[in-house]
Amino acid sequence: MDTYKEFQLGQFRFVRDDYFAHIHFPTHAGKAMAHKMDIDAFLKPLQRDIAWSFFYGMVKFDDVFGTINHYGTVEVFAGKYHKALHEGGFWHAEELGRGEVERVFTLMLEDWVPADFDPFAAPRETGSAIGPKRAANLDAIHRKRIVTTRIVKQSDRQEPEYPVNEGFKGMTFKEGEMHIKPGHEDKFAVVNLYDYLARSDVTWNPSIVSVLEHSLFCPTTEEHRLPVKHGNDRVEWFIQLNGQIDWEVCNQNTGELMAYVRMRPGDVCAMPSDIQHQGFAPERSMLLVWENADPKMPEKIRSGAVPGDPDKMVTMK
Ligand code: PHB
Ligand code: FE
Repeated sequence: MDTYKEFQLGQFRFVRDDYFAHIHFPTHAGKAMAHKMDIDAFLKPLQRDIAWSFFYGMVKFDDVFGTINHYGTVEVFAGKYHKALHEGGFWHAEELGRGEVERVFTLMLEDWVPADFDPFAAPRETGSAIGPKRAANLDAIHRKRIVTTRIVKQSDRQEPEYPVNEGFKGMTFKEGEMHIKPGHEDKFAVVNLYDYLARSDVTWNPSIVSVLEHSLFCPTTEEHRLPVKHGNDRVEWFIQLNGQIDWEVCNQNTGELMAYVRMRPGDVCAMPSDIQHQGFAPERSMLLVWENADPKMPEKIRSGAVPGDPDKMVTMK
C-alpha cells in the first residue's frame, strides 16, 4: 500500500498519518520533542507559505510552528515564539536557505495534499485531507495567479471567466460612469472591484491589483479562518469592503492575547509591526489588504527611522 513520505529539513522531521502532521525536533534543552497539528490545519498554512514566498515577516502555522522570512534565508521555528515553551527550553529554530525550505515544503504539499482537498478553498467548498494516502492535487498546489502586464483598458473587456461565488449571489455590481474625450478611448477603463472579487475562487489569498512604488493594494475574499497567524515585520492596513472579520491580535514573540478587533464594511484598521493577527470571517467577505513592499522597511523599523506603530505614523492636524 502506498504511504505518506517523511521529510527532513535541517533537524526538523515531518511525518503525516491519517489525522495529523507530526513535527519532530530537538529542543534547546537537549531533548527530543514532537508537535502535532490537525492535517488540514497544517496543509493550509503550508500552501500559503509557499504561494506567498514566505510573505512579510512571520507565518505561524499555529502557536508553535512557523517560519520567518529574512529575504534570502528563512528561520524555521518550533516553540520559540510561545511563552511557556520558550521559557521551558522546549523550542528549536534554524536559519535555512530559502530554496531548501521551499523545496522540502513543496515536496511535502505534493505528497500530502490529496486530490479531494484544496488548501485554498473554504471548508464548505472542498473535502478534507484526512485519511490514507491517495492521488495528489497538483493543479491546486501549483495554481498560478493571472498576471497582467499593463493597466486594463476598456477595449480589453471580455465576459468574466469565473462565476460569482455562492456567498456573493444577489450582489449588484454597478459600474461607475466614464466620459472619455474622443481620441483617448483606449487609455481608460472602469473596473468594479466588487465584481472582480466576487468571482475569486480562493480564500485568504490576497492578489496584487495595483502597484504604486512600494504601495500594494491586495484585495482578497475571506471565509472561515485565516489559516496562519501573521506576525508582520511592517505596518499593514486592512479596509473591510464587505461582510465582517474578527481579528485576534497577539504579541508576536509570546503569543499573548492583546486585543480583539471587529471590522464591518467601511472599517479601516492598521496593524502595528510587533503583533501577530489572525482573522475570522463567519461568511464570505471582502477585504482590502494594503502592504508596503519597501524591502528596507524591516531595517527602517529596527533602526527607529520609521515607527512600527501606526499611531505614531498618522498625525491628524
Ligand atoms: C494577513 O496576514 O495580513 C492576511 C493574509 C491573508 C489574507 C488577509 C490578511 O487573506
Ligand atoms: Fe498580515
